[in-house]
Amino acid sequence: DAEPWKTVKIPPIVQELATGVQEPPSRYVIAEQNRPTAAGSEMPDPIPIIDLSRLSDNCADEVAKLQSALENWGLFLQAVGHGMEQSFLGEVMGVARDFFKLPLEEKQKYSNLVNDNEVRIEGYGNDMVVSEKQILDWCDRLYIIVEPENRRIYSLWPTQPPSFRDILSEYTVRCHKIANLFLQNLAKLVDLHKDYFVNMFDENALTYARLNYYPNCPKPDDVFGMKPHTDASVITIVFIDDNVSGLQLQKDGVWYSVPIVPNALLVNVGDVMEIMSNGFFKSPIHRVVTNAEKERLSLVMFYTMNPEKEIEPLSELVDEKRPRRYRKTTTNDYIAKLFETFARGTLAIDTV
Ligand code: SIN
Ligand code: FE2
Repeated sequence: DAEPWKTVKIPPIVQELATGVQEPPSRYVIAEQNRPTAAGSEMPDPIPIIDLSRLSDNCADEVAKLQSALENWGLFLQAVGHGMEQSFLGEVMGVARDFFKLPLEEKQKYSNLVNDNEVRIEGYGNDMVVSEKQILDWCDRLYIIVEPENRRIYSLWPTQPPSFRDILSEYTVRCHKIANLFLQNLAKLVDLHKDYFVNMFDENALTYARLNYYPNCPKPDDVFGMKPHTDASVITIVFIDDNVSGLQLQKDGVWYSVPIVPNALLVNVGDVMEIMSNGFFKSPIHRVVTNAEKERLSLVMFYTMNPEKEIEPLSELVDEKRPRRYRKTTTNDYIAKLFETFARGTLAIDTV
């Protein structure tokens, strides 16, 4: 298993400290010039909404939308027609919500703290604190490995609510089909065999589920729900609790709010896909802002390669006109680096 990470202090549980406060504590307050106040401009190029049932039939319109999602947003889109009924998605978000409603002592049974100065990815809590100066995010999360099944650590899977495991397992299966459909279509966009990317995921490739809970914040403009970052995944599928916006995307230095589309799942590529595609796909920079009235939840699925596997630009996508742009790494090293840079408020992606 991955080594735990040093933390200079035990990362606080935001849900606890948010209860009844008038002001976010100073550790959460971001510098004035970085505040999200002015964000949320009208999008120049709307985020494409792609119907997966049509994409799986190779419908030309949907493929064209995928192409525009690539050209305008690196690759970020909203997916509908995914076959998951509203009632099922409601159950999925329901178990996430019920988990965060549990008393603290109950949630702490799944804590990601290894001891007073080490945390691991998996479990309930927060990311490591690397310095006293680090601005903390207004968010708590539960990370669990969901795939492959033999890598699940069931002691970190909540037993409350009782349907948690079954529902998350079902969601995992259904999401993986969506991930594969995208991976096949992404391969086609760069003229690779449709199963090229799918076949790069071996029996040790990991899928992480991350359940996020953002309490409402009395001064939403003073904090980030999640600081600006890119994902370390190959691709990511995000499911947002109904009608609570907050996710923002950066394009050409400007931040835009991602509109809510009922029952849509968001799909984006992560840094590992950017590296492997030698920059054909760009991992979008995004962040989360909080709001004063409503808590917000999201469930994020990260598709990652075998942690030990070397990641580098595919030789098929490197030539004289398009020289190699990224250094070789492994998923394990890259994830560790991303958490570290994220904590320091910088980005991880590293071009040659
Ligand atoms: C993220 O994983 O970047 C956050 C997604 C969200 O809460 O909208
Ligand atoms: Fe993200």
